[in-house]
Amino acid sequence: MPSLNDPVKLPSGLVFPNRLVKAAMAEMLGGFWNVPTTSLLKVYEQWGKGSWGGILTGNVQVDINHLGTPFDPALAGEYTDPNSNKELVATWKKYADACQEHGPPSIVQLCHPGRQSLRIAGRRGPFASPIAPSAIPLDMGDGFLQRWMSWFAFPPPREMTQADIDLVTRQFVDSARLMADAGFSGVELHGAHGYLIDQFLNPKSNIRTDAYGGSAANRAKFVLDIFHAIRAVVPPTFCIGIKFNSADYNSASFEDTMTQIGLLAEAGIDFIEISGGTYEDPKMIGPPGQPGQPQPQPQEQKSARTAAREAFFLEFASAVRTRYPNLILMLTGGFRTRAGAEYALSQNACDLIGIGRPAAVDPGFAKLLLDDSLSEDEAQLVLNRVAVPFWAKWIPLSAVGAGWETSYYTKQIQRIAKGLRPYLPV
Ligand SMILES: Cc1cc2nc3c(=O)[nH]c(=O)nc-3n(C[C@H](O)[C@H](O)[C@H](O)COP(=O)(O)O)c2cc1C
Repeated sequence: MPSLNDPVKLPSGLVFPNRLVKAAMAEMLGGFWNVPTTSLLKVYEQWGKGSWGGILTGNVQVDINHLGTPFDPALAGEYTDPNSNKELVATWKKYADACQEHGPPSIVQLCHPGRQSLRIAGRRGPFASPIAPSAIPLDMGDGFLQRWMSWFAFPPPREMTQADIDLVTRQFVDSARLMADAGFSGVELHGAHGYLIDQFLNPKSNIRTDAYGGSAANRAKFVLDIFHAIRAVVPPTFCIGIKFNSADYNSASFEDTMTQIGLLAEAGIDFIEISGGTYEDPKMIGPPGQPGQPQPQPQEQKSARTAAREAFFLEFASAVRTRYPNLILMLTGGFRTRAGAEYALSQNACDLIGIGRPAAVDPGFAKLLLDDSLSEDEAQLVLNRVAVPFWAKWIPLSAVGAGWETSYYTKQIQRIAKGLRPYLPV
């Protein structure tokens, strides 16, 4: 059975020294100028010392006009070359150094939020439309209040023109080149969680009738073009991976999703990180609860046996493995114990284990799992769901519980940035 301590080599040649990867978590530490701030660097210095096999940064937006949150790090304007953009490269190099000074290869997650761009986020202004493959607004629920709140937070998008598609493709390529020049080991395209790439892949948000819509392959054209355009300009040793949403076995989209993964594998993607969910249905944070409610049960100290199946998207990862045995797979979501991580490896469901929330309350969580002198019961972190305050339970949006959970962990990341100890949720 593969061990958590084993290295993993990607097709680009990049080697993760062990199998535990700190997953992307938006830190909201880009400040008003949306750049890597000293606070951001401080958190990554801590993660850099945490014995992770690899580090994925929180999402970096490829267009400062379209942000997920107001404080995301982002790219403003064009990136031409290191000589004409010395200052910019120097700024991002500090970020790469903070992550990698103590060893682990670090990969920048590149994202465009598309229609999931908050009205108040990004320099396009609160009244300008976000962009999306089709002019379909987010659907956060049928009630009047739900529709109004979702309209207020996320303005309805406009359908992207070919010029928009070309611009966004160039923005992904510029961002990837900048990250390569700054010294990062690779980029991960954010193709999950309902962001722009996922909007193209998914027939519910993409009803285009041109070359980017229709069949599963057509819907994958946007991301494949981005992938090939990046591959053509970055060094061959620079890794390009993707975060991808899972689909249920019995869902209409299962075969389409498999086809799209096959196309990415054929194109030579370095790894696929499996996750799931969107703002409309935030499965990435865990199994769905009631609208506006936190997940009900506090988690107990898990025995190795109950921990074994803790991963949210294990079955889907296994199905991908069966179809595409040579693809490097990372599985993210739910891992809290060494037993759970080892079980996923023993099932051959994945090569790499992505870990989010535990890393936000313990930057050295990887050390705990890798330390063979610790017993199964010691090599775990019990995380209760974050309680939603009583008044917020009246907000009739299913995303409220997930939003509360996420913002709790963002605060813990920000505590690490200030040199304070993070708290476990009670
Ligand atoms: C505070 C916070 C911020 C997140 N930001 C991102 C992000 O920027 N990009 C991303 O792909 N996923 C993001 N996620 C999702 C995580 O990468 C991960 O998929 C999810 O938390 C499930 O893993 P976990 O159970 O180990 O936390 C975020 C999660 C949290 C808690």
